[in-house]
Amino acid sequence: MIRVAIIGATGYTASESIRILLNHPQTKITYLTALPQECAPITDIFPACRGRLDLPVEPVDLEKLADKADVALGCLPHKVAMDFVPDLLQAGVKVVDFSADYRIHDVDLYEKVYQVKHTDKERLSEAAFGLPELFRKSIVGATLVANPGCYPTAASLALAPLLQEKLIAPDDIIVNAVSGASGAGRKAALPFHFPEMNENLFAYAVGAHRHMPEIEQILTDFTNQKVQVLFQPHVVCMDRGIFESIYCYPLTNVTADQLAELYHTFYANEPFVRVLAKPPATKNVAYSNFCDIFPTVAKGKITVFSAIDNLVKGAAGQAVQNLNIISNIPETTGLI
Ligand SMILES: NC(=O)c1ccc[n+]([C@@H]2O[C@H](COP(=O)([O-])OP(=O)(O)OC[C@H]3O[C@@H](n4cnc5c(N)ncnc54)[C@H](OP(=O)(O)O)[C@@H]3O)[C@@H](O)[C@H]2O)c1
Repeated sequence: MIRVAIIGATGYTASESIRILLNHPQTKITYLTALPQECAPITDIFPACRGRLDLPVEPVDLEKLADKADVALGCLPHKVAMDFVPDLLQAGVKVVDFSADYRIHDVDLYEKVYQVKHTDKERLSEAAFGLPELFRKSIVGATLVANPGCYPTAASLALAPLLQEKLIAPDDIIVNAVSGASGAGRKAALPFHFPEMNENLFAYAVGAHRHMPEIEQILTDFTNQKVQVLFQPHVVCMDRGIFESIYCYPLTNVTADQLAELYHTFYANEPFVRVLAKPPATKNVAYSNFCDIFPTVAKGKITVFSAIDNLVKGAAGQAVQNLNIISNIPETTGLI
């Protein structure tokens, strides 16, 4: 059994990690932590755990962690995560970090985008980027995995085949994204208050979302060409799900059938990417680790639609996929 600790056990991605791990045949949740003022039995925090998981949520104690866990899932916000990760690694556990703190290789870019000094720069080069479909080899054997952002996961999986085949202009890509409200986390915030959110849809972070450089980094690293993306997120009144419509300028004539063949070949051995013959829908990926993709041609532009569950392939499911890889067990364990 792989013993798993969840650090930041009171949030949405933690709750989703618990849901997935309780159905995982080779893991056991052994330790849950949170800030002292939030500590309580997990069944009080998430009553859905009643009869399934009976553990206290406790303040982090590194000796206990070392004793009880092999892997820690860090479900903490960015800026907070880098205060915890060095100690977790020091305690001898492997870490899958959900935050952005170990995702961006360029520390100046990180500090500009996140408006904070990076306090653990030395470790940036050690962290494997946890998007298995594109960077699997570097995840195997890693002790620290930077789990990707939710929007970047959907966008990068949608764009990688086109960019690798040099079918589109790498500096003229528009990613138009819509997310459910759980993408903002569990903490109360006015825009997500029920009367504000209900029956509503709005754009935010115009031209400046923190995931834009992450998408560019992933695709630049994967294809060895400088990729530039205009990324525009929106929030819609649903709990979970990300839907992206992506518009690209073709560099060569290509038909929808040729695109379908390209994507089917590219993802032929990927258990969590489904290439569809029509646009995906968030309902069809909800609670699953799938990314559904439909590439096509419309009015001379290449258009790709991509859908994931932000809390699963966008966070906890992908983290378990990474946990499986670093634990040397089949990647799909507990996920299909
Ligand atoms: N939500 C998504 O769809 C999604 C997708 C991909 C990645 N992520 C990333 O995953 C991470 C967790 O997101 P989430 O949605 O689960 O957020 P969340 O629901 O707000 O949960 C965050 C957790 O971190 C704890 N925390 C906050 N500040 C802390 C501090 N100073 N010290 C210790 N613990 C602290 C919170 O405790 P309290 O109970 O005190 O608030 C809570 O347990 C973030 O980095 C996020 O960017 C989220």
